[in-house]
Formats: sequence, structure tokens, C-alpha cells
Amino acid sequence: MDNNTYAISRYPDVEAVYRQLETLLSQPLRPVRRDKMQEVLEYFEKKCARSKALNDEAKQIIPGGVQHNLAFNYPFPIAVERADGAHLWDADGNRYIDFLQAGGPTVLGSNYLPVREKVIEMLQSCGPVTGLFHEYELKLAQLVKRFMPANEMFRMLGSGTESVMAAIRAARAYTKRSKVIKVGGAYHGWSDQMV
Ligand SMILES: Cc1ncc(COP(=O)(O)O)c(C=O)c1O
Repeated sequence: MDNNTYAISRYPDVEAVYRQLETLLSQPLRPVRRDKMQEVLEYFEKKCARSKALNDEAKQIIPGGVQHNLAFNYPFPIAVERADGAHLWDADGNRYIDFLQAGGPTVLGSNYLPVREKVIEMLQSCGPVTGLFHEYELKLAQLVKRFMPANEMFRMLGSGTESVMAAIRAARAYTKRSKVIKVGGAYHGWSDQMV
């Protein structure tokens, strides 16, 4: 495998990238024109028939037909069948550039081979879950500490929502204060406290 396919192998000129970004951000917002929107909708109708059929079926049993808000798209969610590096393929075989990258976590690109192989190795030896402790939890905590030394202790949770809830609870218990500052308009998970 070509090691340069994924991750950063060449550092761009940061100043130039920022200049491009500023130019882009200073552009006015351009909504999709009504006539062009028709073309977009036709694309989905003609090229994504299987995604549409799967979503219609999923809506019978899953609210909105998807399990995560990121997937809840107009005119219907795309059913992804394959992911590799910077690309996704849908159930009709169309290829997309993946600007979403799962909302952030796939920093090495989707389905990065060394990660996949390690995950398969772990599944073969331990299965998906034991509920108990594994040495790799320690290794991960040490790795996070190495790169983020300000983290004195490290505890992993199943989701961002849970992590924020736990952090608030721990902070309230520790400080004996009750109020929390939330960044307006930002998403911190869907717990009652934060929505
Ligand atoms: C800052 C922040 N907090 C919490 C969450 C919630 O995470 P999760 O979707 O894993 O519950 C997100 C998710 O986007 C987030 O960006």
C-alpha cells in the first residue's frame, strides 16, 4: 500500500490556505437556484434508486430511516456501501468525495488499512466487547497523555453526549457549583442539560 495515500504526507503553505479560505468566506451565500435544484433532485432520483428504496423501507422501522442526524439528508439519505480513504461509494455504485469523514473521527481517511487489520485482529481474539479491561485501554490512555500532557487522567465513554454529561456531573460535584456555561448555538450532544 502507498503510505502517502492517507494522512498528511506534505504540509501545505498555511498562509496561502488561509488566504484562500478568507476569499471563500467573503463570498456571499449562494443558494442553489430553483432550476438547478431540479437537476440535483433528478440526479438523486435517477442515480440513487437503491438508496431511496432502502430509505423508504428503513423509515418503516427507524425514525427518519437513519440512526444518526449526520445521515439525515435531503431529498433522502444516501446508503453507503463502501468507504476508502477520501471516497465513499453508495449502494448504486456512485462514488463521492467524502468531505464529512464521519463528522471528524476518521482523521486517517475512511477504512485505513492498518487500523482495519488491527480491528480485525482484536475481533478475532476478543470479539467486539467483553465489558472488562484490556491492556490496549492503558496503551491508549498513555498515548493520549503523551500528545496531550495536560490530561492528568483519561476516561473513555461511548459517545460525546455521555462524555459531556459525565464532565458536567464531575465538575458540579467537585466545585459544588451548579451553573454551566454553554456555547450558544453549539451542539454538545442531546442530553436534556445541553440541548
Ligand atoms: C462538542 C460536542 N459535544 C458533544 C457531541 C455529541 O457527541 P455524540 O454524537 O458522540 O453523542 C458532539 C457531536 O458532534 C460535539 O461536537
